[in-house]
Amino acid sequence: MEREPVRFFMIELERLLDEARQSIVKLIGGDPASLGFVPNSTIGVASILHSLNLKPGDEIVVNSHEYMSAINELSRLEKTRGIKVHLATVPFPIAGPDEAYEAVMKHVSATTKLVIVSHITSPTALIMPIERIVESCGSLGVLTLIDGAHAPGQIQLDVEAIGASYYVGNFHKWVSSPRGAGFIYTHDKTIEPLALSSRAHYDRNDRDAFRCLFDYVGTNDYSAVLSVAESIAFHEDLVPGGFPAIMEQNHALVLRGREVVCQALNTEPAAPDSMIACMASFVLCEAGAGQDDAEYEDSLQDALVREYGVQVPVMQIQSPPARFLRISAHLYNSIEQYEYLARALGELIK
Ligand SMILES: Cc1ncc(COP(=O)(O)O)c(C=O)c1O
Repeated sequence: MEREPVRFFMIELERLLDEARQSIVKLIGGDPASLGFVPNSTIGVASILHSLNLKPGDEIVVNSHEYMSAINELSRLEKTRGIKVHLATVPFPIAGPDEAYEAVMKHVSATTKLVIVSHITSPTALIMPIERIVESCGSLGVLTLIDGAHAPGQIQLDVEAIGASYYVGNFHKWVSSPRGAGFIYTHDKTIEPLALSSRAHYDRNDRDAFRCLFDYVGTNDYSAVLSVAESIAFHEDLVPGGFPAIMEQNHALVLRGREVVCQALNTEPAAPDSMIACMASFVLCEAGAGQDDAEYEDSLQDALVREYGVQVPVMQIQSPPARFLRISAHLYNSIEQYEYLARALGELIK
């Protein structure tokens, strides 16, 4: 790119991105031509919302475990477009996927325009029953947007089989690619990037507009997405069995880590094992405490970083009101680290 930028951006980029598509669908499934690249899931979700031509009164259902970038984008659209947002409260602790399904579907009807659900929720680390939600919404004629920011590399994925109208995800989380590698998967070719490039007016008959528009959004660094194939190959070299084996190993480790932390917090797991992939969250107390004067988002997180050198997110949601701590497990983690965290929590809580 730097040696010959004009050739890179004008001649090579589309070919290289098509090669990236071929490698990526081996991990996430689907048809390469339905894959548009974006810098991250935040931009992916916003690109879809802004392409939908939302009108006053259009109803969108989200739930209380959704990532705040989606919620914030919807709040903006409430003000600018007059859409109406319904917030479903998904319980936590949760007994099983039925509770999540029912909580979301209670707010959905044939007048709903779109339902947004994370594949794996950010604060609570729950695998949501997206297949059932997508199917039920489909039968009502309701669009679905699945926010899979945390899914590739954490759980087995087939974006085509899920059947959502839109699936958004990242490779810079669990596939450990360079940052800036996100994607949109959709058959809806009316979806456009948030910004149109200097080439958007070209009338091409060799390539559909969806790929033309997403493949070039101005002079940008596309190397993150062009490195995803190498990130996948790196993991496959590291662990026999590749990603399926890595997911199994990380899942087993997070369950052991959860047990250790549950003992320190004197609590029970907040979700069944089947709703957990390679992250787990713990309810600490009701929302509200811990946020005043915090350097991070919570004074407990501050103390864990400063006094123990441990970086774990401590977050809150408002419905049900709760304060959480979330652990994750990847190949570089070991059970000793969760034991150390448990000791630190024990001392801090005392
Ligand atoms: C569910 C969910 N959606 C979206 C995002 C945002 O991802 P990014 O910062 O890559 O845009 C996150 C980040 O943690 C997330 O957990």
